[in-house]
Amino acid sequence: MSEQLNEYSDDSSAGKATMEKITSLAKRRGFVFQSSEIYGGQNGAWDYGPLGIELKNRIAGAWWKEMTRLHDNIVGLDAAILMHPRTWEASGHVENFTDPLVDCKKCKSRFRADQIPQENLAAKKCPDCGGELTDTRKFNLMFKTHIGPAEDTASIIYLRPETAQGIYVNYKNIIQSNRMKIPFGIAQIGKAFRNEIVTKNFIFRTCEFEQMEMQYFVKPGTDEEWFAEWRKQRWAYYEKLGVKMDHLRWHQHGPGELAHYAKDAYDIEYLFPLGWRELEGVHNRTDYDLGRHTQYSGKDLQYIDQDNNNERYIPYIIETSAGLTRNLLMILCDAYDEEQVAEKGNDDDWRTVLRFHPDLAPITVAVLPLMKKDGLAELAQDIRTELKEDYSTDYDQAGAIGRRYRRQDEAGTPFCVTVDYQSKEDGTVTLRFRDSMEQIRVPRAELAGRLRQEIRTYKRMK
Ligand code: GAP
Repeated sequence: MSEQLNEYSDDSSAGKATMEKITSLAKRRGFVFQSSEIYGGQNGAWDYGPLGIELKNRIAGAWWKEMTRLHDNIVGLDAAILMHPRTWEASGHVENFTDPLVDCKKCKSRFRADQIPQENLAAKKCPDCGGELTDTRKFNLMFKTHIGPAEDTASIIYLRPETAQGIYVNYKNIIQSNRMKIPFGIAQIGKAFRNEIVTKNFIFRTCEFEQMEMQYFVKPGTDEEWFAEWRKQRWAYYEKLGVKMDHLRWHQHGPGELAHYAKDAYDIEYLFPLGWRELEGVHNRTDYDLGRHTQYSGKDLQYIDQDNNNERYIPYIIETSAGLTRNLLMILCDAYDEEQVAEKGNDDDWRTVLRFHPDLAPITVAVLPLMKKDGLAELAQDIRTELKEDYSTDYDQAGAIGRRYRRQDEAGTPFCVTVDYQSKEDGTVTLRFRDSMEQIRVPRAELAGRLRQEIRTYKRMK
């Protein structure tokens, strides 16, 4: 019986993804580490290790391609995190970006009032220790700090709580520099910061995170049509990434849930091991943001439609807003699988496998010499060097070949290339597929092309 079987099969979570398993695998394999771990960790902040940063970059790359390269009328932007403080008065965040907060006077635990049982709130009774709760007060989620040497009210500056505002304040610059015509979009990926009250659940809700947002500027009156269109496109995007579609659903915001800027909003929710949770939001923000920035900046932010008798209007905005770090958690959960693999004389053997789409996998191909000796390691290194130009690669010569395959399965590497004695004789190598564990022989000269074809035609089996 393998050591992994003990880990899984003696509890009811055998074969299933749980947050504990995902968190433990993420640390063990270098996807995600707790921030400042040697000092006991920093709540709400996480560090992305060697496999994590590769995965995050690929998720960001897939989104960027989808939202900019595949659209002639969407361009990119990278705006500063620090923005003029008036931005956040105009956007409504200073006034409205709050959560209701209660503290326990006895055990000092802090809760979001909307996330504890109503009976506890009504009785002012702590759900953890039964102690007395404080009155509910509003807590602004923006991180506030000072810029410059003087710490006075004139030097207050905020860390942006959403990337969207950097797009709105640049909308005129982009129209002018890039001759954009409505409808058009601006896409951005970047850090956002929120002083979240509850940050348990790994990287699901953190104080420092990354967003992938696209703001689409449309003529008023066409907004509902574009709102429906973007919902359709964002749904199709996850399908293209190979995400389990029965783990996705829509949730339309009710009147009490709508953000202060939104006329209508739908979330794409994913069935995390925690239950159904928001993954991405699609919002009809109307002319709220550009209207408010007009008012607060005194600048004319109307669009002038030169193809339509210079008609002037403030565009409506349809926003698609996805968390990059939350997408990474979703991709990890979605890819996670434990499989009982019958092998000769050992049909109890289990493997953990991350079934990443090859476009997202941190390592695309691992090259493994069957033995270190007899020139096999040198040949394998040579093959790796050749593949490096086109693919992200790994090389592993330590331990039995079966164990090396398992290590790559756990990192989500879709292809392994094994170099053996026959490779020296006839120039062929073994290509092993992560999902099916099937192995075929391929001439070395055809390897790069074969991998390209496999990636292009990849279909998830399970
Ligand atoms: N610009 C609109 C906006 O920020 P949001 O619903 O507050 O809307 C959009 O956030 C997405 O950002 C969410 O769907 C989620 O994926 C991600 N997100 C929000 N807060 C987060 C947090 N504290 N930690 C990680 N991701 C977060």
